[in-house]
Amino acid sequence: MKLLLLLLLGLELTLVCVHTEGQTSAIGKNFNPEKAGSWGIIEGEWYSVGLASDKREIIEEHGSMRVFVEHIHVFKNSSLAFQYHTIINGECTELYLVCDKTEKDGEYYVKYDGDNIFKVLAADYDDYIILHLRNINNGETFKLMELYGRKPELSSNIKEKFVDLCKKHGIVEENILDLTGVDRCIQARDGGES
Ligand SMILES: *[C@@H]1O[C@H](CO)[C@@H](O)[C@H](O)[C@H]1NC(C)=O
Repeated sequence: MKLLLLLLLGLELTLVCVHTEGQTSAIGKNFNPEKAGSWGIIEGEWYSVGLASDKREIIEEHGSMRVFVEHIHVFKNSSLAFQYHTIINGECTELYLVCDKTEKDGEYYVKYDGDNIFKVLAADYDDYIILHLRNINNGETFKLMELYGRKPELSSNIKEKFVDLCKKHGIVEENILDLTGVDRCIQARDGGES
């Protein structure tokens, strides 16, 4: 009898765990400020930590997608404003993009070097987010994946998770960049000395 009770208790605990896990990944997969219940969830300061693409030159020096995030703002109408720096002629230059929701849940659109559709693939909004973006320009297409951290550096666990996700989406290892050792225009951020 005791054994049966223990078994039942164990089963219940397992069910509770499975249930909680399901909830966490649902938030990651379907980022939606309205449904998440709070506007501020993605708002605030971010740092670019990882960058990956199946078209390497766009994330190399002088590549259009070699951009470093500083801040994300959520507008009341659900549009997102991304404040970036990009290096042009050796100088950190500000780049400001407003991204609008598409009719698909959790998906955003922005015009920049062509048409871009992106979504949040995984996130813990106090710590990191992983974005997946598809670009279409003149009939050509590429994928871009970005890892943002609330701090300039992230744990190796999260960086490995990013690498795994990139590979799962068909990006080869040599096209996955760790940005923590390169000039990310941190000195040009608000409050930083310029
Ligand atoms: C939402 O509001 C922002 C700020 O006013 C604006 O830039 C953006 O275009 C708006 N988005 C839509 C879809 O109207």
